[in-house]
Amino acid sequence: MSTLLSFRDVWVEYGDRIIIEKLNLEIEEGSFVSVVGPSGAGKSSFLRLILGQEGPSQGTILMDGAPLKPECGPDRGVVFQRYSVFPHLTALRNTILGMECEKAPVMGRLFGSARRAAEEEAREMLTAVGLGHSLDLYPAQMSGGMQQRLAIAQALVKRPRILLLDEPFGALDPGIRADMHKLIRSLWRERALTIVMVTHDIREAFMLGTRVLALDKRRHDPHAPHRFGATVVYDLPMRERPEEEIDEAGIITIDVNSNN
Ligand SMILES: Nc1ncnc2c1ncn2[C@@H]1O[C@H](COP(=O)(O)OP(=O)(O)O)[C@@H](O)[C@H]1O
Ligand SMILES: [Mg+2]
Repeated sequence: MSTLLSFRDVWVEYGDRIIIEKLNLEIEEGSFVSVVGPSGAGKSSFLRLILGQEGPSQGTILMDGAPLKPECGPDRGVVFQRYSVFPHLTALRNTILGMECEKAPVMGRLFGSARRAAEEEAREMLTAVGLGHSLDLYPAQMSGGMQQRLAIAQALVKRPRILLLDEPFGALDPGIRADMHKLIRSLWRERALTIVMVTHDIREAFMLGTRVLALDKRRHDPHAPHRFGATVVYDLPMRERPEEEIDEAGIITIDVNSNN
C-alpha cells in the first residue's frame, strides 16, 4: 500500500491558542481511518487541514508526496453531521452541486448534452446511495438517514479519492445508523476510497475503521489550557473484518498491536 497523505510536524494555532501540535502521521491509500478524541481536541480542524480549507500554522502536508493544494479540488469530498445539503434544492440539484467548486459553478456553464451528462452522473450516484426514487424530494421531505445518504452522494459525485466524514451518523437513530455503516463500508470497498471519519462513537470507530487514531493533548498546563495542543496519542491498527460482522450486536475483538 502506498502513502496517500503525510503530515510532517504539523501545528494548528488560532492566535495564541495551540490546537494541534507536532503532528506526524502517514495515511495509506485505501485505509479507513477512524478519529476519536474529546470535544474540542481539534478533530474537525484536522479534517479541515486534509480538506485544504485551512493551512497548517507550521509544518507540511503532502498528498502523493507533493504539497497539498489548498483549493477546492475533485480529490476530496466531505460530509458533516448536519447541514451538508441545501434545503432549497432537490436531491438531484444538491448532488449536481457536489460537482462544483465554490467559485466555479458548473451547471451555470453547462448546456445541452454536457448538462444532461452531469444529471445522469448525479442520478447514478443517488441510486448508488439508495435514493434512486427520491430525486425530486427536498431535504425537508426526507428522514435524517436519507439526508445523510444525500450528503454522501453530494460528496462522492466528483469521484474523490478521499472522503472526509465529520460525525456523519451522530444524529441518527441506532437502526438507521447500522444501515449507514453498511452503505459506507460498501462504498469504501467498491470505490477504493480512503476514508477519514471523526466519530464520538467508540464502537463505530473500531467496527468500521482499519485504523483508529485518538487525538488528545499529551500534556496539560492547568494555568494555561491553550498552551499545548493535541496530537495522536493512540494509533491502533485493526484486523480485517468480514462484512457480515459489521453491526452484529456482538463483542468486538480489538487487536492492540500499536507501534506507540
Ligand atoms: N476558526 C477558528 N478560530 C478560532 N478557534 C477555533 C477555530 N476553529 C476551531 N477553533 C477552536 O479550536 C478547538 C478545536 O476545535 P475543533 O477542531 O472543532 O475540535 P473537535 O472537532 O475535536 O471538537 C476548539 O477549542 C475551537 O473552539
Ligand atoms: Mg468537531
